[in-house]
Amino acid sequence: MNEKNEKRILLASPHMSGLEMAYIKEAFDTNWIAPLGPNVTGFEQEICAYTGAGYADALSSGTAAIHLGLMYLGVGKGDIVFCPSLTFSASANPIIYQGATPVFIDSERESWNMSPQALEKAFEQYPHPKAIVIVNLYGQSADYDRLKAIADAHGVPILEDAAESLGATYKGKQTGTFGDIGVYSFNGNKIITTSGGGILVASDKRAVEKVEFWATQAKEHAPYYQHKEIGYNYRMSNVVAGIGRGQLQVLDKRIARKKYIFDYYKKAFQDLDELEMMPIAAYGEPNYWLSCATIKTDVRVRPKELLDYLDSKNIEGRAIWKPMHLQPVFKGSAFFNHNPDEPSVAEDIFMRGLCLPSDTKMTDADLDRIVTRISWFFGAASARY
Ligand SMILES: Cc1ncc(COP(=O)(O)O)c(C=O)c1O
Repeated sequence: MNEKNEKRILLASPHMSGLEMAYIKEAFDTNWIAPLGPNVTGFEQEICAYTGAGYADALSSGTAAIHLGLMYLGVGKGDIVFCPSLTFSASANPIIYQGATPVFIDSERESWNMSPQALEKAFEQYPHPKAIVIVNLYGQSADYDRLKAIADAHGVPILEDAAESLGATYKGKQTGTFGDIGVYSFNGNKIITTSGGGILVASDKRAVEKVEFWATQAKEHAPYYQHKEIGYNYRMSNVVAGIGRGQLQVLDKRIARKKYIFDYYKKAFQDLDELEMMPIAAYGEPNYWLSCATIKTDVRVRPKELLDYLDSKNIEGRAIWKPMHLQPVFKGSAFFNHNPDEPSVAEDIFMRGLCLPSDTKMTDADLDRIVTRISWFFGAASARY
């Protein structure tokens, strides 16, 4: 087939199970179209049952959950908050919403997540941050034993940004349950989606109750509209939560397929001299949300060249998150390098890395098409260096 006519392979697109419509229909039949309702409560309970989290509050987005989570941890004007540099901007933006200052921490090679070594160095210069945001990047857990030991030694709470890692585990325990606050996202490209949405989890009931209060405009218990605090309109709707309930039932299936995709690439590229798959740390089991790879150090090809080539063949890949300390909007922010004598790990991964198509609807023929194209690309590129 002419490649121009070949269907476009997507990075990661919504994959409905067919079970969602029954929940949506029920919402319509019972006229629970207004915010909140049985699907919201059901979804919160089902997320707790799946992850082992104590309490949950379904919200309009993962970003909203991070925002209210930081508020609950007391982050306010002038505070310092540690945050990984290698992440999506939504991990850091809510720090600014609160008038606080992010201090960015480098990654370690083993998992691409927050480097405990760099975190220790950050504490030497900033001994009293208000909170630490820890991200489980691309569906793989950070090293919580080491990171929590440092945080606990300084008495600083953790907000676990598990937006990308629902279903991934660390030493057998679900990610999202290691921080004082945990956050999942159900944005359109996530492992399961509600079209848009997020959830905040915590083992402390008071945290979830307070967040729910802020998320529903901070309405006091009074016979009229009484407000002592500034509130937000951040709750998930009952219709949207219905999508989540249907999606949650196939989460394990989606994880199995994501792992299959990662393993397919790993096997296919094991003899390719130019590319290697992202490392999988021995301590956990990722949900393999996105299969990422890096071009090896001695290969003089930028990810953009490969991504442009794949795009020309109707295959969608994506750049690795550009580190926050290199973003114009965070210019001048403090950054702690994993190894100050070397370029930062985050920057190195960004300069050499890319996300490969990880759509769970891909067939083996699609995977084969991607692998063949990448092999051809490097075959042709090698003639140039
Ligand atoms: C690491 C990370 N944090 C936070 C978010 C924000 O989630 P949402 O898009 O639901 O606001 C995302 C995804 O979008 C993410 O990848």
